[in-house]
Amino acid sequence: MSEQRMQANTAYAICAFNDIPSRRAMGFHLMILDEDGSQRPWPIIVVRWGKQVFGYVNKCPHNGVNLDWERNQFLDPSGNRLMCGKHGSAFELSTGRCVDGPCKGSGLTPITLTVLDGDICVTGVRLLEEEHDPSGKS
Ligand code: FES
Repeated sequence: MSEQRMQANTAYAICAFNDIPSRRAMGFHLMILDEDGSQRPWPIIVVRWGKQVFGYVNKCPHNGVNLDWERNQFLDPSGNRLMCGKHGSAFELSTGRCVDGPCKGSGLTPITLTVLDGDICVTGVRLLEEEHDPSGKS
């Protein structure tokens, strides 16, 4: 992903499909380019479940914080739900819907992912460039 100011229908490769083991989730810090040309951080979560991938904005609907209070720790102890590290809200992996906790009934913002040539790609947005948080948090 080296090109800047690409079209919204561009697919941006985030990582290789095999970089994320099945039943695991990983965070990425990207930069989105808004309609007005401004840039803003766009942290996302990518979940892999078998051959499926699901993506959400890494922002808890409760307080707006990132879910992983420890880097890339997104799943609850059962491994079947995403969990916010702050107050423990639990989210369905395949829908992002909050099924338990203080924001029950609301949901994570889904993002559109596709797998192309073995890479997990984001579509439907314009990304400026791939950014990894220099602080090491994801
Ligand atoms: S901030 Fe996520 S559950 Fe409160």
